[in-house]
Amino acid sequence: MPANWTTYRELLLPAPNGRRAVESELRRAVRDRRLAPGTRLPSSRDLAAQLGVARGTVTSAYAQLIGEGYLTARRGSGTTVTAACTWPGPAATPEPAPGFRYDLKPGVPALSAFPRDEWMQAQKSALADLSTDDLGYPDPAGFGPLRRELADYLGRVRAVAARPSEVVVTNGAAEGISLLGRVLHAGGHRSVAVEEPSHFGAAEMLASHGLTVRPIPVDSDGLRVDLLSTTDCRAVVVTAAHQFPLGVVLHPSRRRALLEWARACDGVVVEDDYDAEHRYDRPALGAMQALDPTRVVYQGSASKVLAPALRLGWLVLPPSMRDVVVDRKRLDDLGTGTLHQAAFARLLGTGGYDRHLRRTRQLYRSRRDALLAELRAVLPEWEPIGVAAGLHVVVRLPAGTDDVALQERLARRGVNAPALARYARTPTFPGLVLGYAALTPDRLREAVRELFAAV
Ligand SMILES: Cc1ncc(COP(=O)(O)O)c(C=O)c1O
Repeated sequence: MPANWTTYRELLLPAPNGRRAVESELRRAVRDRRLAPGTRLPSSRDLAAQLGVARGTVTSAYAQLIGEGYLTARRGSGTTVTAACTWPGPAATPEPAPGFRYDLKPGVPALSAFPRDEWMQAQKSALADLSTDDLGYPDPAGFGPLRRELADYLGRVRAVAARPSEVVVTNGAAEGISLLGRVLHAGGHRSVAVEEPSHFGAAEMLASHGLTVRPIPVDSDGLRVDLLSTTDCRAVVVTAAHQFPLGVVLHPSRRRALLEWARACDGVVVEDDYDAEHRYDRPALGAMQALDPTRVVYQGSASKVLAPALRLGWLVLPPSMRDVVVDRKRLDDLGTGTLHQAAFARLLGTGGYDRHLRRTRQLYRSRRDALLAELRAVLPEWEPIGVAAGLHVVVRLPAGTDDVALQERLARRGVNAPALARYARTPTFPGLVLGYAALTPDRLREAVRELFAAV
């Protein structure tokens, strides 16, 4: 068994279920050296049991790869990875990021779990079904079938009240926030409230469109909604389901108060639902948007479920904002590329997205559990918070710790662990924000030992 993988099921994510899938996952694992030359593979019976497939599926995949020269079978010594493999190194696995031995930056899913085969199939069949006209300039609001799939998915999984006509497809959530920034500014807004701490990227984008950003503190019930009326803002960006980065949920009474505030000032609430699907120990709370679709702009993204490289995001807009946002998008770029959208629509429609979520939920839960167990054992005085959901935890450090200095010390040891202070203008307590999705349990345990060594 290669050192960094706990099971072959994890090594060969997405869990392959047909001969071709098993074969191509194994081939890829050999090519990018997750399976090093000389590694002895499990017996076909064992691997079939680990992957939950028929034994014959594994025997034929082994036979195919032996034929191609990737594997060698020797009587008495089983099947091994061909010793003379000379494929170039792990270019296909971009994690951890260059320069860091352990990259714990938050906000990145397990890129090695990207469902390559399912995505390729979705792309292929979607392209085959596109009409000639579909290859012309796209609808700037988004590809019709994708808007229908998203409306259905968001209603089913996030309780969002969305008609396809209210969905606008964007190049990631980032383009969504940028479009909103400009539309709000053009509509007379001069300031916008954001959570403190929060994702600086969004605030930076809003500021770049001429809006003054007003940070509003977050406590254990989420955004301090009562403070909004002390500002000149009539717009706010909120991560209600899982506050970024603290991980708290916006309390139901605060949700109601937020909507009352928006109605009273003719305001807009932007609900950034960036990682809502990743839930482990508590049921997912529905999105706030359905409580008042005329006031709330819902924003989502495929970045935390599939990969940021897709640049696929979406907005569900109040009727009063829909046309002006679509027009802004048309003037910007004439619309998001149809081919990616069509493939994504296919993945959603065939249940591939749900399957991927189910698989990765288990993976992330085991990674989170490994991280928390090691932290408990090695650094018991560090208090993890916001652990029930998402792809990261925040650890509260003992009072007086300089988290930025600690981050720098860790970086010198090859560990990327951002300080909580990096997400706040006025830090409230020292902490580290630890993303766990991209590292295996073994690597997370090693990373925690590095954290221990650094303090
Ligand atoms: C809270 C939050 N919202 C939105 C985004 C942007 O996502 P996208 O990749 O879809 O632009 C991020 C990315 O890190 C994020 O952390």
